[in-house]
Amino acid sequence: MLEVTIRPMKIWDLPQILNIENCSFPAPWSYRAFVSELNNSHGVYFVALIGEIIVGYAGMWLLPGEAHVTTVAVHPDYRGRKIGRKLMNTLIDFARIRGAQTMLLEVRPSNLPARKLYHSLGFRQIGLRVNYYVETGEDAIVMLKYLQETEDCEKPEEQEGLR
Ligand SMILES: CC(C)(COP(=O)(O)OP(=O)(O)OC[C@H]1O[C@@H](n2cnc3c(N)ncnc32)[C@H](O)[C@@H]1OP(=O)(O)O)[C@@H](O)C(=O)NCCC(=O)NCCS
Repeated sequence: MLEVTIRPMKIWDLPQILNIENCSFPAPWSYRAFVSELNNSHGVYFVALIGEIIVGYAGMWLLPGEAHVTTVAVHPDYRGRKIGRKLMNTLIDFARIRGAQTMLLEVRPSNLPARKLYHSLGFRQIGLRVNYYVETGEDAIVMLKYLQETEDCEKPEEQEGLR
């Protein structure tokens, strides 16, 4: 399989992105919405490519001390190949380097693939926003990840084979 590369989103990517957006969300963002995000000084957006083809994208608002994921999507033909995970890890690494303490996101209770992805990345449910998704009336699960703790590290004294 060809390698997946990640780079910042550019305005000329938007036709390919809108194609993915329209088959990924019940209330897709418009071209203008993406342009506004790219001009937002807090917005940070990346695309995933295989060769020259955009296969996914993800973005967030990077606010003082806190990152808020605004979108992540992978083209249906390319799902299940760890591209969503790679995009999310790109956001996490970027936010961590910029000093964010936490990363927050909303997800539909019915969106099990996304919930599983976020959980596997260390996000945990901290609350519910009632009737958050106006188009379906669904609530949103709010998930949070602490970015600066060393939860993934074993304590040095617990590591085997060091003595
Ligand atoms: C959510 C989404 C971005 C995941 O992208 P993806 O590239 O298919 O996901 P990955 O291959 O990186 O999978 C990473 C993890 O997510 C979970 N996951 C992904 N697809 C899954 C599925 N169909 N069923 C269950 N878990 C799934 C698994 O935990 C998986 O880890 P594993 O492969 O080690 O088991 C993709 O399904 C998508 O674009 N959905 C439509 C848009 C959307 O709902 N975005 C999120 C809005 S909150």
